[in-house]
Amino acid sequence: MSHRNRFTALAAASALALTLGACSSASPAATSSAAGSAPAGAVDCNVGITMPTRSLERWINDGEQLQSKLKGAGCTVDLQYADNKVDQQISQVQNQIAGGAKILVIASIDGTALGPVLETAAKQGAKVIAYDRLINGSPNVDFYATFDNYKVGTLQGTFIEEQLKLADTTKTFTLEPFAGSPDDNNAKFFFSGAWDVLLPYVTKGTLKVPSGKAPKSDAEWASIGIQGWASDKAQAEMDNRLSSFYSGGDKVDVVLSPNDSLAVGIQASLKSAGYKAGTDWPLLTGQDADKANVKAILAGEQSMTVWKDTRKLGDQVFAMIQQIVKGETVTVNDTETYNNGVKVVPSYLLEPEVVIKDTVQTKLIDSGFLKASDVGL
Ligand code: BGC
Repeated sequence: MSHRNRFTALAAASALALTLGACSSASPAATSSAAGSAPAGAVDCNVGITMPTRSLERWINDGEQLQSKLKGAGCTVDLQYADNKVDQQISQVQNQIAGGAKILVIASIDGTALGPVLETAAKQGAKVIAYDRLINGSPNVDFYATFDNYKVGTLQGTFIEEQLKLADTTKTFTLEPFAGSPDDNNAKFFFSGAWDVLLPYVTKGTLKVPSGKAPKSDAEWASIGIQGWASDKAQAEMDNRLSSFYSGGDKVDVVLSPNDSLAVGIQASLKSAGYKAGTDWPLLTGQDADKANVKAILAGEQSMTVWKDTRKLGDQVFAMIQQIVKGETVTVNDTETYNNGVKVVPSYLLEPEVVIKDTVQTKLIDSGFLKASDVGL
């Protein structure tokens, strides 16, 4: 089944509930301190949250929202940010385990680097929820909560397809594609979703990639990945492409950016190369609805962002934690897509959506995700 069909099928599928089998075998140390009243399999609500970095708005919101919900429910919470450094994140998780955490919520930096520390967590009977990004290569990942990452890419690719009317046009357009950090499992899903829409047009010649940085297949996505999702690296890469491949008045018509932090760097590069909003500014995609990018959308310097309402992700993970704490079944809606190399991790996928200039108010402001004053409205 193609990714696309599989995801359609998933969307149609009703929510499944999985029994948290491991709970029934939880060690005595892992059972609730409210001895006598707690059902078998219940655990203390002692939660360690680790987020990758404070440098991106979304992770600050994600961490703080979840922490305050959990504290409101009487849980013990430790929230840490790792400055995008893998070793720092590993020692934060180690400290949380040593501090008695019974549930670990981890938005990993390198999804392959946490195996040993998660083994220690499992020995202590702690449950692990991979948050937004899958943790690979470990059997000790109990659940995964995220947005439908492939769909994020589909929305970006389809936006470009529709804006340029690629299916009907006889014109050709220049495209520069970018991909996310090679160590982030999400990045390959974002790229595949977009590339499954765009690659046929590259093959046909409707889209031309002057830099030659056009992966021949989804599997080659990491060749154009930007390490650490860094804005300055995206800017340097775009500077290179523009100066080397767009001489003599050639213009780039569209840039596929997987997220807003890359889009920030790409915007800076376009500006310094003399592109002007409303005249020759290319179509430019993004993801996250960060404030700076929403301002750019309003100013005509970014065409769209894929909005993932991180409050919903927080709610979902909060619900999972409550179910684990009570020893109940944990609700998931996908038991097929996210194989971490050792097992398919039961997942809950949320729906991302497109925001453009005309829908900033209705989607982002009216819902309370951003304040009007955050984006100069
Ligand atoms: C997240 C994106 C984010 C990116 C960079 C990804 O794993 O899903 O929302 O833009 O990391 O932090």
